[in-house]
Amino acid sequence: MRKFSFGFLAGVVVILLGALFWVRLGFVNPRADIPEGALEKNIAMPSLDASVDRRAPDVKNPLQPTDVNLAAGMKIYQTNCVSCHGDIRRPSGMFAEALYPRPPQFVQDAPDMPENQNFYIIEHGVRVSGMPAWKQVLNDQQVWQVTTFLSHMNKLPPDLSAQWKAVAGAGDSGSTRK
Ligand code: HEC
Repeated sequence: MRKFSFGFLAGVVVILLGALFWVRLGFVNPRADIPEGALEKNIAMPSLDASVDRRAPDVKNPLQPTDVNLAAGMKIYQTNCVSCHGDIRRPSGMFAEALYPRPPQFVQDAPDMPENQNFYIIEHGVRVSGMPAWKQVLNDQQVWQVTTFLSHMNKLPPDLSAQWKAVAGAGDSGSTRK
């Protein structure tokens, strides 16, 4: 039994060291423009969801989804988020295929996580991905406004949808993909 435990432990250590050297010696492809691998899809993404679920404080959105808050959130989104997450005119953002992991394209696939979790991700960012920690740039009120916008972006009242189209069209010049 002792011999078996020792052999088992030694096996585990060898596998762990092997993985460490595999990473350290440069066998992980650093390119951002390769297709997402199975490890990314099956381990990293569910792990992010589980980690945010565990950590995000159970707070309630202090804002109502009024036209004023939705319009403010839309402007914040349009200024800061579209290059990666896309907008009503360009559902596939400029960097949609240029980051690893890929940024989710919210117009095609609306963010359906609870608002406290979206708030947490927006405030703190996501390590080793392109998602910045927006609390360095936006105040809490602005982060709640953009969070509120995210939860309603696929069911906006028609006048706000029209307003979004107009604002998205205004920035056309520099932000299209080649
Ligand atoms: C430079 C690119 C970039 C910008 C700009 C950016 N994001 Fe992200 N965002 C990402 C990436 C990449 C992910 C995916 C991270 C992952 O899966 O590990 C992400 C993930 C998210 C998520 C989590 C989605 C999910 O379903 O797990 C939310 C919410 C989010 N971003 C909101 C925003 C908001 C709001 C803004 C603007 C204030 C913004 N992002 C700006 C790159 C960006």
